[in-house]
Amino acid sequence: MPLLEITDMVVGYGRIEALHGISLTVEAGELVTLIGANGAGKTTTMRAVSGIRPLTRGTIKFDGQDITKMKAHLRVLEGIVQAPEGRGVFPGMTVQENLDMGCYTRKFATKAEYQATLDHVFELFPRLAERRSQVGGTMSGGEQQMVAIGRALMARPKLLLLDEPSMGLAPMIIQQIFRIVSEINAEGTTILLVEQNAQQALSRSHRAYILETGEVIKTGGGKELLADPSVKEAYLGVA
Ligand SMILES: Nc1ncnc2c1ncn2[C@@H]1O[C@H](COP(=O)(O)OP(=O)(O)OP(=O)(O)O)[C@@H](O)[C@H]1O
Ligand SMILES: [Mg+2]
Repeated sequence: MPLLEITDMVVGYGRIEALHGISLTVEAGELVTLIGANGAGKTTTMRAVSGIRPLTRGTIKFDGQDITKMKAHLRVLEGIVQAPEGRGVFPGMTVQENLDMGCYTRKFATKAEYQATLDHVFELFPRLAERRSQVGGTMSGGEQQMVAIGRALMARPKLLLLDEPSMGLAPMIIQQIFRIVSEINAEGTTILLVEQNAQQALSRSHRAYILETGEVIKTGGGKELLADPSVKEAYLGVA
């Protein structure tokens, strides 16, 4: 049984239909990537999974349970946690306060558990430990991405939704972010990743789906798609 199972999902904004009936699965432990051009519907898919956008049609199952109509904050309690497109760091809050927002909905049972999770976030992102009292709005783009991922981890995701974590970052920071994404996955967190950086994302993913104008047009293993001539041409800048 997949951890996440989306079947025939239609999502729209008013009269605009952004997703025309997509189906996809993510198995427990997998790192699965959604690739697609601007406007393909990647963020809409993420929003539907986290519960921010309602479905017009179709179903979403998580861990065998139908969550299609479940409210977003209750999905967080089930372990579906999103690091949104554009990071969504609270600019006036410190790094520490931003991280604490991650467990605002999903509270820790004990102080020790909180501390262990926080320590782990600081292990993954030592920069955040150094800067814990700096306000979010003054952090660099790469640092804000670390805050966004760290904040999501504070909610102890079973399924982590990452929407374009590499957006606008310098190549070295992109490498670092991707390494950490792989590490989080290797530690046992299932990840659904949206990326424009197809080369990096596909080489690190178990599987991927290619979205075009609201439809899944191709799916396969990450390495398999990396070698696919039509994927190379359209998404890897190889003519
Ligand atoms: N709030 C909104 N109101 C109306 N239309 C929207 C809204 N958000 C997205 N759309 C439309 O839905 C479609 C899919 O958008 P979405 O943001 O999911 O694309 P995306 O694949 O994430 O693109 P990008 O790579 O640019 O982030 C687009 O045509 C977009 O214009
Ligand atoms: Mg998007």
